[in-house]
Amino acid sequence: YEHGPIDGRPRMYTEMLEQPASVERALRGRLDERFATAHLGGLEMDARELRAVRRVKILGCGSAYYVGQMGASLIEELARVPADAEAASEFRYRSPVIEPDTLYVAVSQSGETIDTLLAVEEIRRKGGRVIGLVNVVGSAIARACDGGIYLHAGPEIAVASTKALTTMFVGFALLALQLGRVRDLSVADGRRLVAGLQNLPAQIEQVLDGEERIAQAAKALAEAESLFFVGRVRGFPVAREGAQKFKEISYRHAEAYQMSELKHGPLALISPEVPTVAIVPDDELTDRNVAALHEIDARGGPLVVVTHAGVDLGDLRVERIDVPRSERELDPLLLTVPLQLLAYHAALALGHDVDKPRNLAKSVTVE
Ligand code: AGP
Repeated sequence: YEHGPIDGRPRMYTEMLEQPASVERALRGRLDERFATAHLGGLEMDARELRAVRRVKILGCGSAYYVGQMGASLIEELARVPADAEAASEFRYRSPVIEPDTLYVAVSQSGETIDTLLAVEEIRRKGGRVIGLVNVVGSAIARACDGGIYLHAGPEIAVASTKALTTMFVGFALLALQLGRVRDLSVADGRRLVAGLQNLPAQIEQVLDGEERIAQAAKALAEAESLFFVGRVRGFPVAREGAQKFKEISYRHAEAYQMSELKHGPLALISPEVPTVAIVPDDELTDRNVAALHEIDARGGPLVVVTHAGVDLGDLRVERIDVPRSERELDPLLLTVPLQLLAYHAALALGHDVDKPRNLAKSVTVE
């Protein structure tokens, strides 16, 4: 694997396009249709041990942390185990309580991020059990963990992470499914999720096919000095990841916010010069999200809405990007992919080298 562009295309671009294949690899051999579950041999935990887990704590940095937040929702929703994600870079500085019945999960593409590695070592020193969700085989984090799940994303070279993130999401979905099926998750729900996961590669392909429209929206966004990315509950980590990608390669100020919190402060910043990218899946929160879009629209804020076909946006003036429907719990993955393309095309429009963003390294291996 060379580090330069392929066929004149930036690495980030080819890596985004590889996602149907990398997600397929991440799933391969891990789904069990008969028992409507997942099998993650690398976990090295039997059903009794999985049932004994009382809490899940996910640790990662940057985008891996945001996907960790998506993973925490998946685990709570499917396995009904309390779960949350925390920035690994903060974890060891606050003298965390390490609990024996908590399953700690370290998530990292490179497996070399020093903050995540030191968090793993801190947990193990205090007797906690840590599993890794890691892409690079044999990396420091993979070796330091008690077991884990390899992502099989293939080598990721571009600084802005794309295909590793979508395989991280799949890794969390598989973990949540396996944990759920030794607890309360029904066969019917297990089947629903297995089918949903199997559909993802083709659905990612569909999102990628919409590149042209997304590129148009990106060009308009690139003109703004500052923008918001908003979503709520499942959509909020998607917004955080979208803002992160946009900042990294376009160098525009992009701030992620919970849609529900806008009225508690940031609405003051909304104006025709400050666009908002809103994540509005078709779910139990759609009506509330659409009401918040009206608040933005009323203040002249330009809107790009990433949503599902069938969501009624009424007379709102928006640039609309529809993604295919998945199972609700899996929606964050397909909602994330257009945000990668949005950041990519904004950066291209601004003439930036997307593979070598200023001030950033692919993995941060020193404190
Ligand atoms: C992602 O686009 C970033 N470049 C960055 O936030 C990255 O996800 C983070 O540094 C963690 O890296 P890791 O997954 O290799 O641990």
